[in-house]
Amino acid sequence: RKRIAILISGRGSNMSAIIAACMDPSFPGEVKAVISNRPNAKGLETAKRYEIEAIAVDQKAYADRQAHEQAVLAELDRVKPDIICLAGYMRLLSADFVRRFEGRMINIHPSLLPLFPGLDTHARALAAGMRIHGCTVHYVTERMDEGPIIAQAAIPIEPGDTADSLADRLLRAEHRLYPHALRLVLTAQVRMVNGTAAVLRNPESAERAD
Ligand code: GAR
Repeated sequence: RKRIAILISGRGSNMSAIIAACMDPSFPGEVKAVISNRPNAKGLETAKRYEIEAIAVDQKAYADRQAHEQAVLAELDRVKPDIICLAGYMRLLSADFVRRFEGRMINIHPSLLPLFPGLDTHARALAAGMRIHGCTVHYVTERMDEGPIIAQAAIPIEPGDTADSLADRLLRAEHRLYPHALRLVLTAQVRMVNGTAAVLRNPESAERAD
């Protein structure tokens, strides 16, 4: 099974969804480490309960972004993941860091990209009068929230929805989407080719090959 590292900053509910998917022995990967830039992230406690290595690399303990990233890199060099999943990791990564893991680092974003990159996506979707909202799993590239799209899920926006109600409902879709997208990547049904997410093989032939 492929080695997965997850980077978080807080609650870690998407992390939990990935861990839960990996409990099925037929899932093509297993979570080897969870790293948080915030030592008090709730997700670190959750990871420990699952007996997964939970590492805090406190950004406040380092002089600048570069020094902090070096410390994260040192942990990743030790863990040797095949793939890195960003799951609510709320710190921008430098171009150097991103290039190093090109094609091997994916992120979940709470909007139907390329709509609403950045923060406050639920409020912005409501303000724009959208009738649907959604989430996107994409490869991480140097430009934030612009990497090639691997998979998306959409939900309807209902009358009376608030940013909070929308966020809650979308989160449930995120928890289904992220393990699905991760499986596509781990089984090489999707790969990043020439800066776009290419569908390489149909699921049946991919299943047989793996
Ligand atoms: C999720 O909704 C995720 O899509 C979002 O943060 C939340 C993390 O929740 N990510 C971003 O906004 C990335 N820019 P979680 O810690 O419970 O998975």
